[in-house]
Amino acid sequence: MIHTETINTINYLVNELKNIENEEEYKKIVKRLEIPVEEYKPYMHWSKDHYTRNCIARTEDFELILLCWSEGQETPIHCHNNQECWVYVVEGEFDEQRFVESEKKSEDLEVDAELQLEVDGVSYMNDDMGYHSLANISDGRAMSLHLYMNPIDECSIYNEESGEFQWKTMKYDSFKGEKIS
Ligand code: SIN
Repeated sequence: MIHTETINTINYLVNELKNIENEEEYKKIVKRLEIPVEEYKPYMHWSKDHYTRNCIARTEDFELILLCWSEGQETPIHCHNNQECWVYVVEGEFDEQRFVESEKKSEDLEVDAELQLEVDGVSYMNDDMGYHSLANISDGRAMSLHLYMNPIDECSIYNEESGEFQWKTMKYDSFKGEKIS
């Protein structure tokens, strides 16, 4: 049975996710998050070269990842491999751009929407809505919590230079707090 009260620890969040009985409940859980930043400490890893993907929990049904972003880091434009994606902002500010396939012959994709996400803000994306990219637009580091239903092991990345999509295997920088070298 699912509860309705505030979620203020990672353990509680993971237990709630494991107890979900129907898909509708994922979006309700994301709205209940009030987890203090210190709770994420075991999962915080940073790289100057790329944003890091730190898996907090993973089952056959869902994947919960903390993304840690240094200033200016961003994702390429990508799909979600037919899965659902919720993004919750833990710290900092993000720019999300959404793209759809363009009707114009000269372009493959066109911007469909642009959103600014702040702390506690939630965004949702799936492949029927198109593709998206995320960028840390804070003056410093940022963190976002990503919930995928189901886990995403590969996604298609848009190469802006060639105008082509390429499949990419998704990797973690840490798994349940352990850094992966
Ligand atoms: C990622 O998981 O690396 C990309 C972020 C997202 O699409 O939510």
